[in-house]
Amino acid sequence: MVRPVDRCRVCGRDDWLDVLSFGETLLAGDFQDPADPPGDRYPLDVAVCRECRLMSLRHVVSPEKLFEHYLYVSSDSGLITGHSRRLVEHSVAGLGLAEGDLVVELGSNVGAQLAMFQEAGLRTVGVDPARNLAAAANERGVETLPEYFTTAAAVRVAERHGPARMVLGRQCFAHIDDVHEVLDGATRLLTADGVLAIEVPYLVELLANNQFDTIFHEHLSYFSLGTLHRLFGGHGLRVFDVWTAPVHGGSIVVFATPEASPRPTRPVVGEMLADERARGLTGEDVYRRFAARVERVRAEIGDLVRGLVAGGATVAGYGAPAKGSALLQACGLGRAEVAFCTDTTSLKQGRLLPGSRIPVCSPEEGTARRPDYFLLLAWNYAEEIIRKERRFLEDGGRFIVPIPEPRIVSAQTVTA
Ligand code: TYD
Ligand code: ZN
Repeated sequence: MVRPVDRCRVCGRDDWLDVLSFGETLLAGDFQDPADPPGDRYPLDVAVCRECRLMSLRHVVSPEKLFEHYLYVSSDSGLITGHSRRLVEHSVAGLGLAEGDLVVELGSNVGAQLAMFQEAGLRTVGVDPARNLAAAANERGVETLPEYFTTAAAVRVAERHGPARMVLGRQCFAHIDDVHEVLDGATRLLTADGVLAIEVPYLVELLANNQFDTIFHEHLSYFSLGTLHRLFGGHGLRVFDVWTAPVHGGSIVVFATPEASPRPTRPVVGEMLADERARGLTGEDVYRRFAARVERVRAEIGDLVRGLVAGGATVAGYGAPAKGSALLQACGLGRAEVAFCTDTTSLKQGRLLPGSRIPVCSPEEGTARRPDYFLLLAWNYAEEIIRKERRFLEDGGRFIVPIPEPRIVSAQTVTA
């Protein structure tokens, strides 16, 4: 079920700088049915490889446990769909993908992104090990193999559909232990000028904005461009472009192509690599300072919420993202402090947060119950949510935004 990481999954060395330990915690995305027994705990420690600077968990929980019945459904929020649309537009107008070209997506979830590629005239195949989600994608007409993206799966896709002009992995690459197998599969699938586009939460944002709650068992790796550049290079893939995107707290989309491909490398790649060195990502201090800030912020969030509750206020969680359950566990907050959490995902409603067993309800029910404070667990959508919940604020309700530093948002602070 759980195995310690010795050798780095990128470079193979076994020389780690320990950064943070959260002790043994419950799987953040394991929303329980009220009849379920409490889940199991697994160690949650994070370290940085002294050779290639991969930030990684020190333990890997088996993927069957994490992903085969997955409750995370890609969001239809404006932020996410805007980004998905931009990727499709860029693939056609910027990268020259033409009608009939094949796009293969790993971790394709319910197929929302691939459906957009289909609308643009491209052929698509999804690969996702979550059987419940793959079934939903197939039902909407997005062909999806309920599998891990292994070399064998990639070869089978190529045999059946021909080579891919694009292999896309959005917000799943950091969940994968054997990254070499995925890259091997991708290189076998790609055309000579094909594009591998990998989107990951950006390590620089994690460090700069104290996003400690994004550290949980699903997220095995926390990538800089430097580490990905080295990893892809080892598979004959040249990074030729990189985007920053405001999704999931700040992400990068790294575009790579076979070494001999005619696609020119854009200057932004070298600039971002230099910026990472200038920020000290290749040193050790930056990680030690991050760890110290996280210890402080964890304590401050817990103290703030406990103080409000002790003063008679009611607090509920806004959103029940996996990182929200990681945050509550890391801050020692439970049902005594947080009465319930709201979430738009119907699969989560009626279930309980792991460990704390805080119940999840719909946003409509949650706002009707009118807590004094909403702890904004889905802080990566802060702008959109605060705009949507204007009424709650105008009625005197407040948000607690936990990240990067806990702060309280009221109607006055929004207009100010
Ligand atoms: P997300 O941050 O995308 O992922 P993770 O689980 O990896 O941390 O999850 C956001 C959650 O917040 C998701 O369960 C949907 C929910 N949500 C709302 O309840 N209301 C909203 O307005 C939005 C944008 C999201
Ligand atoms: Zn390494």
